[in-house]
Amino acid sequence: MRCNRVKNRIHTLKKERAGLTFIRITLILAIISFSGCAGWDTNETGLVTDKAMVVTAHPLTSEVGAAILRRGGNAVDAAVAVQFALAVVYPDAGNIGGGGFLVLRQQDGSVDALDYREKAPGNAHRDMYLDAQGNVITELSFKGHLAAGVPGTVAGMVQLHQKYGSMPWAELVQPAVELAAKGFPLTRKEAKKLNDERSDFIKYNTQRPAFILQDRWREGDTLRLRELAYTLARIRDQGRAGFYEGETAARIVAEMERGGGIISKEDLAAYRPVWREPLRGQVGDYQVISMPPPSSGGIALLQLLNIAQNYPLEDWGWNAARTAHLMVEAERRVYADRARHVGDPDYYDVPVAGLLDTAYIRSRMRDVSLDRATDSDAVAAGAPAPPESPNTTHYSIVDPEGNAISVTTTLNSSFGSKVFVGGAGFLLNNEMDDFSVKPGHPNSYGLVGGEANAIAPDKRMLSSMTPTILEKNGQLHLIIGSMGGSTIITTVYQIILNVTVHNMPMQGAVNAGRFHHQWKPDWILCEWGALGFGTGLKMWWRGHRIAPKSGGIGRAAGILVRPDGRLEGGADPRGDDAAAGF
Ligand code: DON
Repeated sequence: MRCNRVKNRIHTLKKERAGLTFIRITLILAIISFSGCAGWDTNETGLVTDKAMVVTAHPLTSEVGAAILRRGGNAVDAAVAVQFALAVVYPDAGNIGGGGFLVLRQQDGSVDALDYREKAPGNAHRDMYLDAQGNVITELSFKGHLAAGVPGTVAGMVQLHQKYGSMPWAELVQPAVELAAKGFPLTRKEAKKLNDERSDFIKYNTQRPAFILQDRWREGDTLRLRELAYTLARIRDQGRAGFYEGETAARIVAEMERGGGIISKEDLAAYRPVWREPLRGQVGDYQVISMPPPSSGGIALLQLLNIAQNYPLEDWGWNAARTAHLMVEAERRVYADRARHVGDPDYYDVPVAGLLDTAYIRSRMRDVSLDRATDSDAVAAGAPAPPESPNTTHYSIVDPEGNAISVTTTLNSSFGSKVFVGGAGFLLNNEMDDFSVKPGHPNSYGLVGGEANAIAPDKRMLSSMTPTILEKNGQLHLIIGSMGGSTIITTVYQIILNVTVHNMPMQGAVNAGRFHHQWKPDWILCEWGALGFGTGLKMWWRGHRIAPKSGGIGRAAGILVRPDGRLEGGADPRGDDAAAGF
């Protein structure tokens, strides 16, 4: 038996030697790295408050949200104010030119979910990123005007406010107008990001944006965004019409004409967000409430948590080899399902119930060995029962009444398409890259897909965003979400396990090192120090390939309701994130 294992290992090594030298090099680098770095403190407790908490990607936006709550606004009011403020001070993901998803739970226990995802323009078509030979034209779906979907953020915020807001709309947009008009100091990380993107901002813009007025940005420099302030003022004064009609819409269409994009006046006028029934699932003591399609996040998270509850992960220990191996094997299968079965439910019959059926989920794990990694090529999507009928940022908020909101919003990658709407001062998303531009062709996150996520006019592209709320024994327990493209799902999954299985405080659970597997490519992305040296070695022995991920996996924002009813914030140390509250 042992001899067979050694033979198998030697066979695998020979294969790797033949064609995968670079993977072996990254593996060695990874193992070396595991021994050197302990990661962040998993026992750390974050900010604890009595009544209200806001956790966002930037200290200024957390303060904007907390100030709204102090003035008597509810969680939704704070969320609207934070969304617009993020569009100013955190422009790599905060946005008005992108979209997002949110899940909310009111203090009476009722829940709702809003899909304000971008849509493909009406003139989009299935092969729009292919050349005459059917080959993918690199970058066309990722940078520049053609990469942009029709933005959903402003319409989403208007809908959210109309249904659940309590303060006047203008008062919620005003903090963002002021931040843009007066300017704000750049953090070290933001200054670096603006410098790193300088050449793309020059290359992809038809008019020079404010972001490149200076040669090099430095920490503490004031960034003033006058054109954006005027656009936000139009949104403040006219609501939806301040973006989808009139001057802003005309500027978007003019930008498209100058840069060869296809978003039209009609696309803007027709955009509508959609209220959706949140996905719910009981996992042990916890009721998980998360985002349904067109995000894959809720389905994948519920599948992963359902699998995890069948194994004694607490006894095995956090990030012990057996725990990590089991989680990776589950992720491999769940992401294979995602690639095959999930897309915009308005265009494709997503077998949601089949994918979440407990017997189906259990059947997916039947061929898992606890000793050997499965080859992803040997794993295909499952066959769930068919339906009966037909650079992102996350923020979490709890208000003094106990209303909670979990919001993930994005331009897709950092600074989206890199295209600013000339004269309007905001960036457009590059969300078209989240479609499967050609079956089997990986997108920028390495995700593959097929028919379910093919491009069609007005269709929403598949997402991994996973805004989530957990109840414990019927009470609000955890608000969580993250950025990170395909790694969002596994980031949220790991943080939930860290809290509910490994008993970490909120901050410790967010700090804890992360790893990620998404079926294809067939390797584990691993933060420096996330797995100890021993675990790394044992995983390698089981046949896993490990690639170190510098710069971190995901950036999460969580709030935990402690047993005494107080709130603990978990702000991600991977960014400038901050918690604020009272
Ligand atoms: O919707 C999605 O899944 C992606 N557009 C999210 C992008 C993201 O998280 C960027 N951060 N790295």
